[in-house]
Amino acid sequence: MAVQINPSILSADFARLADEARAVEGADWLHVDVMDNHFVPNLTLGVPVVESLRKATETPLDCHLMIADPDRWAPAYVEAGAGSVTFHVEAAAAPVRLAREIRAKGARASMALRPATPVEPYEDLLPELDMLLIMTVEPGFGGQAFLDIMLPKIRRARKLIDKHGLDLWLQVDGGVSASTIERCADAGADVFVAGSAVYGAEDPAEAVRGLRKQAAAACAH
Ligand code: DX5
Ligand code: ZN
Repeated sequence: MAVQINPSILSADFARLADEARAVEGADWLHVDVMDNHFVPNLTLGVPVVESLRKATETPLDCHLMIADPDRWAPAYVEAGAGSVTFHVEAAAAPVRLAREIRAKGARASMALRPATPVEPYEDLLPELDMLLIMTVEPGFGGQAFLDIMLPKIRRARKLIDKHGLDLWLQVDGGVSASTIERCADAGADVFVAGSAVYGAEDPAEAVRGLRKQAAAACAH
């Protein structure tokens, strides 16, 4: 299982986003948190910033849409240059149609589950997805404490993916750091979002390398 580390620019300096994106070159994806102050109680950035980031870095963009009505807005993020677009199932009216539209437009389609949303009802949808995101904090803010009560859900999701033999990435987001990443990897995650653990570090690129090493070692066990 190849481990991927996706730094979240939510914890970066928003006045210097191009530099901050380049500070983590070597990361697999740049995680871009889009918040609309409706689905979550915070407001970040939208399509124009994604378009500009696309030009500022070679690292592909992993857009995490924490927005209401993703059925309407998600396709614009593919057009803006996102390589992967994640919508929240709690906000989507027609998740299958939306995942197919994201794929048809040329991006990887991903679906996120808030902490209180179980994975089992979506077993039949998994083949429609390229990635499943299990939130390990309530979405909305960086720097929150990791919810270790999500570890059993990560394990159950990994079991479902393996049961169906799917080529589906399992991402975790929220509170992922040097002290929690091994538990996530051990539970079956293979894509790790880290905001404060990367951009709060003295050397963000070194923090990415450190997290990758830890996750890879934990996956190997
Ligand atoms: C939270 C966002 C996360 C956030 C993670 O709602 O979806 O991507 O940036 O930040 P940390 O790693 O600091 O918890
Ligand atoms: Zn996120």
